Amino acid sequence: MYNEKVMNEFRSPANVGEVENANAVGQVGNASCGDIMKITMRIENNIIEEVKFQTYGCAAAVATSSIATKMIKGKTVDEALALTNREVIDELGGLPAQKIHCSVLAEGAIKAAIKNYLENYKKEGAATETAVR
Ligand code: FES
Repeated sequence: MYNEKVMNEFRSPANVGEVENANAVGQVGNASCGDIMKITMRIENNIIEEVKFQTYGCAAAVATSSIATKMIKGKTVDEALALTNREVIDELGGLPAQKIHCSVLAEGAIKAAIKNYLENYKKEGAATETAVR
């Protein structure tokens, strides 16, 4: 059902686990299957220095998360936000039609983590400004 690249990413996924001292955390669930994806990141100077994922999900969810984390590591926040599940699927060489929805988990968790970062960053920025004055 899956191509070889998908199977390789599933069997030996990259970036599994949780980033220590993460400043961006995002978790999303897939309403159609109940699976869950959590992404943690360490963002410094607008660059995603570290990114890891944990999932309770199927092979397609693991493979898309693995490849998506590889695609955004070292990229800017804006570049990561622009990543679409279609690009992730293309990078994997395709997914079976009934598994397309699984790839949305990775995109959703990345966006949720960056949203979390931007909210915290704004708060930190505001606190620093207040302290400086
Ligand atoms: Fe749930 Fe794939 S079946 S993420």
